[in-house]
Amino acid sequence: MTVNSGPGRYALFGHPVSHSWSPFIHGLFAKQFDHVVDYKLRDVEPGNFRHAVINFFVEGGGGANVTLPHKPAAAEIVNDLSARAERARAVNTIVRRSATELYGENTDGVGLVTDLTRNLGVSLTGSRLLILGAGGATRGVLAPLLEQEPREIRIANRTPERAMRLRDEFSDLGEVSASGFSEIDDRPWDIVINATAASLAGEVPELPPRVVGHDTVCYDMAYGRGDTAFMRWATERGSTRACKGWGMLVEQAAEAYLLWHGVRPATKSAMTALERL
Ligand SMILES: NC(=O)c1ccc[n+]([C@@H]2O[C@H](COP(=O)([O-])OP(=O)(O)OC[C@H]3O[C@@H](n4cnc5c(N)ncnc54)[C@H](OP(=O)(O)O)[C@@H]3O)[C@@H](O)[C@H]2O)c1
Repeated sequence: MTVNSGPGRYALFGHPVSHSWSPFIHGLFAKQFDHVVDYKLRDVEPGNFRHAVINFFVEGGGGANVTLPHKPAAAEIVNDLSARAERARAVNTIVRRSATELYGENTDGVGLVTDLTRNLGVSLTGSRLLILGAGGATRGVLAPLLEQEPREIRIANRTPERAMRLRDEFSDLGEVSASGFSEIDDRPWDIVINATAASLAGEVPELPPRVVGHDTVCYDMAYGRGDTAFMRWATERGSTRACKGWGMLVEQAAEAYLLWHGVRPATKSAMTALERL
């Protein structure tokens, strides 16, 4: 694989994308190694995505991150996919092998697992894990979560059929079940991961009252300044461990940095810097 160690142009493609902290995070990583990295945001509408990405690499782009709504389209553009990205059918990191040969990876799942296990000290092995939402983010994290051998994963979604589709795609990797929100077992789960887009609107899905207990780790993939609506909701229901997804954001970025530059940055200082912001 080509590793770009010198100066280079990198970009995050999304729509919208202006809220992203990725340039800030990659800037902090670059400082650790005295790399000169030009990382820009590219707001591109779905109809222009393919053209914009191909142009970017033809013009010398070193690597790209991809966010909503383009991750599935990115999996169609690259020449080669990692096993994880192929499973997820979604790419969040594109690596340039040459101007005409692009490799696609999905670092979201390893980012989440690293944040949970290494940064937050949560053991996934043997746990009962509830995931809310069945969109691209859930698709991207299911295989890496199942690699940790939880006792069971329940996917619950507003549109239950989408959860059931994911269950059918991933149940060869472990114990996966699916339902709507109202059918979730009403007793405390070990870990509840909110992978719905509801937080972005300050909303929380309507869940049975006892899914969260004192020891339940409640992880909102969404992030932003202050506590998210899901974190507040979880704390009100007695959870003492409510967190948001900036650790996942930083860890998935560190994995992308490793793919592009051949070195994995330390992530603690980036997390502290985000906290200060
Ligand atoms: N921290 C990170 O690094 C990171 C990485 C990736 C994603 N994320 C976050 O993860 C979240 C999901 O992203 P995604 O890519 O999976 O989005 P997506 O593909 O658009 O899927 C959205 C999911 O949210 C559900 N949903 C939307 N509005 C809802 C509401 N009001 N009530 C209940 N459910 C609702 C949808 O249900 P239906 O199927 O019924 O429509 C679907 O399951 C976003 O907040 C995103 O920012 C964070």
